Formats: sequence, structure tokens, C-alpha cells
Amino acid sequence: LDNDLARTPPMGWNSWNTFGCNATEQIVKDTADFMVSSGMRDAGYQYLTIDDCWMERSRDSEGRLVPDAAKYPHGLGELAAYVHGKGLKFGVYESPTYHTCQGFPGSLGHEQKDADTFASWGVDFLKYDNCTASDPDQRPGDEKLPLEARDSTMRDALERTGRPIVFSLSLQPAAQGESPWEWGKSVANMWRIDGDRDASFDGLRRLIHTDLDKAKWAGPGGWNDIDMLGTGNYAYASGSNDPSKRLTYDQEKSELSVAAVLAAPLISGADLRTPAASGSSGFPISDQDLSVYLNKDVIAVNQDSRGEQGTAVTTGNGLNVLRRPLANGDVAVALFNETSSQAVISTTAAAVGLPANSTGYHLNDLWAHSSQVSTDGTISATVPAGGTVLYRVSPRPPATNAG
Ligand code: DGJ
Repeated sequence: LDNDLARTPPMGWNSWNTFGCNATEQIVKDTADFMVSSGMRDAGYQYLTIDDCWMERSRDSEGRLVPDAAKYPHGLGELAAYVHGKGLKFGVYESPTYHTCQGFPGSLGHEQKDADTFASWGVDFLKYDNCTASDPDQRPGDEKLPLEARDSTMRDALERTGRPIVFSLSLQPAAQGESPWEWGKSVANMWRIDGDRDASFDGLRRLIHTDLDKAKWAGPGGWNDIDMLGTGNYAYASGSNDPSKRLTYDQEKSELSVAAVLAAPLISGADLRTPAASGSSGFPISDQDLSVYLNKDVIAVNQDSRGEQGTAVTTGNGLNVLRRPLANGDVAVALFNETSSQAVISTTAAAVGLPANSTGYHLNDLWAHSSQVSTDGTISATVPAGGTVLYRVSPRPPATNAG
């Protein structure tokens, strides 16, 4: 969307995958505090979004949405101000239907009033979901109102507020027969390309095999959304809190690598609070998980200003090679081993689109923080089960010591 926002993929946090309907003002404040103290804010994670269930079941006498008084006793204007005070941005959730997915008042027919309300609170991001099929108030003829038209109405309402608000579309494309990537760029800053992805490894694998064909629709201002990241999220592993489904450290590095190459929004679904704040029922993120989120070199690939989404070179046998061209002429190459045993994955400079270079290539390993020179253009690594070696390959000649 041409609204000067999201020129690179948005980064931040969303409450849904850990907290479901139980997010509260205190959880958001604790998350904001942690995002500052952990270094996440300074690494670029900026938007904190509360998902479904933040509001009361009915509108006020003037038709305005009302935050749930038990969950948000000080209201959302105060909460947005707190988040802004931490140098972060604040997001809310709504739907282009009579009801949200969880049955709270939807924005259909109230778009301008709701957009104005959000702007008055200082909202910076709107996740706009879609669950028409489960909407009990669906009226005859409503099904003829295409999703693109519904979402465009909110786009226009947001624009009329004059406030910069990132517009993020959520839906279940396959189940709802929608292809939002085809029209998303003129309506929103990001759009979901697949159903809800739990925090297990299977969700990441599915992405590789069903969603790589959407690369051409992404670019500055509009991105393919792969749903919340599962790294560090223990509560939502396979939707069942099954510890055996949690991503391993190697799998977490794969998730961030794939998200970087796919130019996907980096929205964590984890419990981002200090252990003390989360208490016994929480699943606070470990230092190791955090280090995955904080890898600046991987984030730089994700946020590359060229804004070209990566594509597959090969995806056979569970040994995947993905490549993404970067603004300075480097190419990011992800060697992603989705099998359950260690394997060698190889490609070449030519295959990933690098120009011929007789003096060789620098292979910078963005997780190991080491570099090597490939004189013949071979790009290869031994990759652990479920892991990824992410190289930033530079066609420049190896640096010489000028001294
Ligand atoms: C479906 C979305 O895909 C989820 O991310 C979440 O927003 C729920 N709806 C909320 O009801």
C-alpha cells in the first residue's frame, strides 16, 4: 500500500499465539518493558499488537468500540501512550465483518467510526482479520461483498484519519478461497498467505512447500505474511503445549533464516516478558531463543532495502536452497535441511544468480559469524537436521591487506 509505511517488513510482537483471549494491559506493558531491556526494540522490533478479544461485547451509546474494562482498566489511549513512551508502537485488532473471529463487535458498517477511534487512541497498526463463515450475523447477500471491497473500505477510513497506521490483513486464504496476495498491494501493508501456523516445525516446512510462489507480489509497502514466528514460543507448540513439538535451537535458526529470505514480517508470538513478570503460568523466552531474534545480520537480510522477496533454487528431498538478492549486490543463500539427519547441501554462485567472478566470492555465515572464500563459486555446507546455514554471499573480491 502506498502509504509510506512498511517500506521494509514490519517487526514486532502479537499477543494471540501465547495469550489468546487473555491478553491484558499488564501483559502488554511487561512485554514493552522486556522489548526495551532485551534489546529487541533496538534490533528493530517495534509494533506490539493486541489481538482478538480486547473489547467489550457491545459498543457504547455513540457506537464506539469499548475496551474490556477488566483487561484494560486504563483504556487503550493510556496503553498506547505507555508503549509510545518506550519508543515502541501500538497495534489493535478488528474484522471486516459483524463479529470478530471470537464474536466481538466487528467493523463492517462502522469503519470510519472505528478508524477514528483507533486514531484518537494513538494506534499505529491494525490487524484486520476475517472469519465471515463463522459470523452468526451474516445476512443474505453479504457473501457477495468481496473481501477486497471490505478491506478497501477500512483502508480508506484509516487514510482519512490522517494518522499513519500500518494495515495488516489476516485471513485463511485456502479455507476461504481467497488470494489476497493478488490484490493486497493496493489495499494493505501485509497479508496472510496461509492459515494459522502453530509454533511447530511442520508449519515451517509447509511454508517452504506451498507458499514460495507468492514472492512476486511482495515489495516495499506490501509483504507476504507468514503468521507469527514460533521461535521461543512454548505455549503454542502444535496448539497443545506439547514440549516435544517446540522448535529446537537449530529449527529456530531455520525459521528466522527462512523469514529473512522471504522478506516476511517478523512478528513474534512468544511470551516476551521477564520470568518474574510471567510467573508460573508463563513461558518466558530463553536467552538462546532471544539470541535468534537478535541476530543483526539476519535482520539486515530481512530488512534489506531492495525489498525483493527470495525464491527457491531447489526444494527437493527436504534439502532446500533459497536465495534472495540484496541491495548492495550480495545474495542471501539459505541452505535449509528439513530432514531429520545431518546433510550436505550445495549450490553454486551461478545458480543463485551471482555474476561470474574470477576472484571468487565471500561466504559470510550469518549464524556462525565466520567467513570463507569460495574461489570456484561452490556454495556448500554440512547442515544439521532441521537446521539452516544462512550465507550472505558477496561477489566482491576477497579483501586484501592494503597496509
Ligand atoms: C484467526 C487469526 O489467524 C489468528 O491469528 C487470530 O487473529 C485469531 N483469528 C483471533 O480470533
